[in-house]
Amino acid sequence: MRVLAIESSCDETGIAIYDSEQGLLSHALYSQVEMHAIYGGVVPELASRDHIRKAIPLIKEVMTKANTTSSELDGIAYTSGPGLAGALLVGACLARSLAWSWGLPTLAVHHMEGHLLAPLLEDNAPEFPFVALLVSGGHTQLVDVKGIGQYELLGESIDDAAGEAFDKTAKMMDLPYPGGPHIAKLAQHGTPGRFKFPRPMTDRPGLDLSFSGLKTFARNTIAKCREETGLTEQDKADIALAFEQAAVDTLSIKCKRALEQAGRKRLVIAGGVSANKYLREKLHSLMDKLHGDVFYPRPEFCTDNGAMIAYAGCQRMKAGQKDNDEIVIHPRWPMDQLESI
Ligand code: KG4
Ligand code: ZN
Repeated sequence: MRVLAIESSCDETGIAIYDSEQGLLSHALYSQVEMHAIYGGVVPELASRDHIRKAIPLIKEVMTKANTTSSELDGIAYTSGPGLAGALLVGACLARSLAWSWGLPTLAVHHMEGHLLAPLLEDNAPEFPFVALLVSGGHTQLVDVKGIGQYELLGESIDDAAGEAFDKTAKMMDLPYPGGPHIAKLAQHGTPGRFKFPRPMTDRPGLDLSFSGLKTFARNTIAKCREETGLTEQDKADIALAFEQAAVDTLSIKCKRALEQAGRKRLVIAGGVSANKYLREKLHSLMDKLHGDVFYPRPEFCTDNGAMIAYAGCQRMKAGQKDNDEIVIHPRWPMDQLESI
């Protein structure tokens, strides 16, 4: 089974072809980050228009690289949600139109399921069951995963997502969008122990998370520095370090709890924030202590990409799933509503 996939849920146009026998044949990504950077965040209307411009040339590129014609495809998968409605509609309409003209079935894929399954694209793929920490710009969730489509939500952020907190904290210090990688880079020059940020919701039982308090703490610390001496480069680095340590510690504490509660020894991390090196190190040492393993995708498959949608779509289409003829998007789409295979 060979599947072409289109990812267009936010500010990245990702296209890929996955073959159930041969694996990932080709993939390409166009990031709109530079276009949105001047606005300090994603402008939905600009995102939709840019997906329209970039998707078809990327599909041509990916099909050429994979040496694949439309007659060698068995289906088209596309991200149907969650995400920005206009951006999702571009991918959904394009997928349905190509499928209609090429006589192929389509399948609506859940963006977060794509992230969750991305580590299965790697050579040392995790076996089911595992606990997954999904940490992106829009979501922070802990999920017990028994198989594809067998997802039990264990906990999630009650306010900002982890990536969103990174981005907002970065913006307060006038760092470019998206802020996560910039905070991580600055943190390398931070003075350990100068600031101590809270570890929200770790002093009480439960697996829900909260990041808005951390963001407020950052805002107050930044304001204090500005008032005292002006915000110096060293202040920024020290705040970045304290913020990163607090966010990562909080995620690590909740991962430990989730693994214990679900009785699992395998942890998967996925989504943009899973590219964070300090988070990976911290979770490696946690899993060493717990005599378990941690899995994550290569950095380019941590953030949005087409390969993860092609993988998820291929597994589901192989199991016989396909759409009817409607064009449907799900800007909000709880993951536990998905069918299992
Ligand atoms: O998964 P993703 O590409 O898009 C969404 O589905 O949201 O995640 C993007 C998020 C952004 O908030 C970005 O700042 C964050 O991932 N991110 C990072 C790092 N790389 C990307 N956060 C912390 N450290 C990083 N190295
Ligand atoms: Zn994403």
